[in-house]
Amino acid sequence: MNLLLVNASARKERSLSRRLATAFVTQWMASRPGDAIVERDVGIDQPPLLTEAWIAACFTPESQRTPAQREVLAWSDAAIEELARADLLLIATPRYNYGMPAALKAWFDQVIRIDRTFRFDREEKTWPLSPLLSGKKLVLLSASGEFGFAPGGLRERWEHLEPHVRTCAHYLGVEGKDVHHVAIEYQEFGDERHRASLEDALAAAKALAVRLAGQAEGAWH
Ligand SMILES: Cc1cc2nc3c(=O)[nH]c(=O)nc-3n(C[C@H](O)[C@H](O)[C@H](O)COP(=O)(O)O)c2cc1C
Repeated sequence: MNLLLVNASARKERSLSRRLATAFVTQWMASRPGDAIVERDVGIDQPPLLTEAWIAACFTPESQRTPAQREVLAWSDAAIEELARADLLLIATPRYNYGMPAALKAWFDQVIRIDRTFRFDREEKTWPLSPLLSGKKLVLLSASGEFGFAPGGLRERWEHLEPHVRTCAHYLGVEGKDVHHVAIEYQEFGDERHRASLEDALAAAKALAVRLAGQAEGAWH
């Protein structure tokens, strides 16, 4: 099994989403020590933003790309190769301004690419985009300062992190049933509710690692 860990917190120190990722990965490696984990730290090494040159290069057939266009797509090529190899995608992210951090969105922008991760069929009048990758699972590990973003919660209608990640992940080969989300909430309050949320999430991340590592023994795809 190949795991790709995408860390998106701008904080190296005291990051709760990174702490959740470490808990998941440590538990996973206890079960499956031979597995390979690649880390892409977009929180620290931020992906380049898309430019007109990037878009033009993308829509130029590969055989006709200039050296400069190949260079413009190099970051994207490397990130897509990592992604294509991964069976399990771990995204550890803060909630910033009610959605994903700009650095994580920039990563999605770099890896969701025509004829690499999705195809576009102009004849298809309703859903012209379809993913080229398949069979991956996604574990989303999030940290929020506030609380109540889950279904039925106080801030359900302000939840733009998980739905956006889910929709983007569809184009990376992850079906809805294969998305798992473990969340820490209440960080800004620093009270008993936060401590309980942190403990619950760490336990849930470890339990999820055990469960998915168990499934990895059998047919994953
Ligand atoms: C720039 C910024 C924006 C934030 N926006 C929100 C927000 O909209 N909603 C929320 O619940 N928490 C928000 N927070 C709090 C973070 O989600 C919280 O601190 C979380 O623990 C950060 O993840 P990390 O611990 O992995 O760095 C924000 C924090 C920062 C720094």
